Amino acid sequence: MRLSQCHNFHDFRRLAEKRLPGPVFNYIDGGADDESTLRRNTSAFRECDLIPRVLTGVKDIDLSVEVMGQKLKLPVYLSPTALQRLFHHQGERAVAATAEKFGTMFGVSSLGTVSMEEIAKQYNTPQVYQFYFHKDRGLNRAMMERAKESNIEVMMLTVDSITGGNRERDLRTGFSIPFRLNLKGLWQFATKPAWGINYITHEKFSLPQLDAHIDMGGGASSIGDYFTNMLDPSMNWKDVEDMVKFWDGQFCLKGIMSADDAKRAVDIGCTGIVISNHGGRQLDGSRSSFDHLAEIVDAVGDQIDVMFDSGIQRGTHVLKALALGAKAVGIGRYYLYALAAAGQAGVERAMQLLVAEIERDMRLMGCSSISELNRDHVRFR
Ligand code: FNR
Ligand code: LAC
Repeated sequence: MRLSQCHNFHDFRRLAEKRLPGPVFNYIDGGADDESTLRRNTSAFRECDLIPRVLTGVKDIDLSVEVMGQKLKLPVYLSPTALQRLFHHQGERAVAATAEKFGTMFGVSSLGTVSMEEIAKQYNTPQVYQFYFHKDRGLNRAMMERAKESNIEVMMLTVDSITGGNRERDLRTGFSIPFRLNLKGLWQFATKPAWGINYITHEKFSLPQLDAHIDMGGGASSIGDYFTNMLDPSMNWKDVEDMVKFWDGQFCLKGIMSADDAKRAVDIGCTGIVISNHGGRQLDGSRSSFDHLAEIVDAVGDQIDVMFDSGIQRGTHVLKALALGAKAVGIGRYYLYALAAAGQAGVERAMQLLVAEIERDMRLMGCSSISELNRDHVRFR
């Protein structure tokens, strides 16, 4: 299977599976516990049908939106994800370059493998910094200052990961950062020599947002251990209020799943929230983002930018979320599989296909701009 044969999410996923060692693929692909939230995230879209309008004259389609003070050419942004150079040596550089090409926003993770400074300097497109709140307050302050100095446009604090989700696939494969693999895992790496050679012959794995503060090179640690040992579960609304004041700019909370919390985010001065369950990777059994979107938009949609992620695989999923009132939507695995499959060429192809799909669907829906999409365009079964 080649990149030119990839036509949708599932094709990129299959190609990624072929290219990646099992432990790495399963880290991306998996969710928490029984993965029921992971599955529901996408199946929830099936219970909502689109209602197209005809004869509206849709020659030109305008996909631009404004969110978190940023003008984007697309209603889709590339959500921050960890460890990208482990998936393909071009890592964050490939993702940032693609975001720039498509005129959209993307996020660098606290667990990113390229520094926020490099990305901010090299790529001219709105950048999010995804913040994990560590026990080490000095580290937190230093990260905020670095992000400010780099003129990063949007601060995104992830609030759903104060302890590690139970990723049983990772327990079985022994996935860790850097690597300490069990025998089965080692065999898997040996069976993907192209990935292995690529990985060894490029820049050494590192976590430049954290390296000065945490020695991740010492003992191998699972992602779950990192969350549990390094992040601060006592983080509360007052801590975040102080961060919002210190940042003094666009600030959103990623991982809001209740209308009451959304209202509190407004109260402490946040400018946005992302309705997200972390792609089903944290609390299994939590409601899907899509099932809960309308309720949160109704509570705070006129006071704060409501964004959405978790489960998006199709242009029509994007349209449904926008019709319910999301201002923009984030994708995770969709671009990660493409990155793993073919680096920047993969991410670009994935975005081309998604944009073509959204444009076609907009035409078929009779909508020429994103702001025209509304709840009259959807009906739940
Ligand atoms: C993530 N996600 C994530 N979120 C975050 O705030 N910081 C991070 O470092 C990461 N890392 C990460 C790694 C991998 C491999 C995945 C799949 C996801 C969550 C991500 O930003 C987003 O919320 C979800 O991926 C959205 O769900 P879908 O699109 O993958 O279904
Ligand atoms: C994950 C992290 C790193 O979901 O957010 O694996």
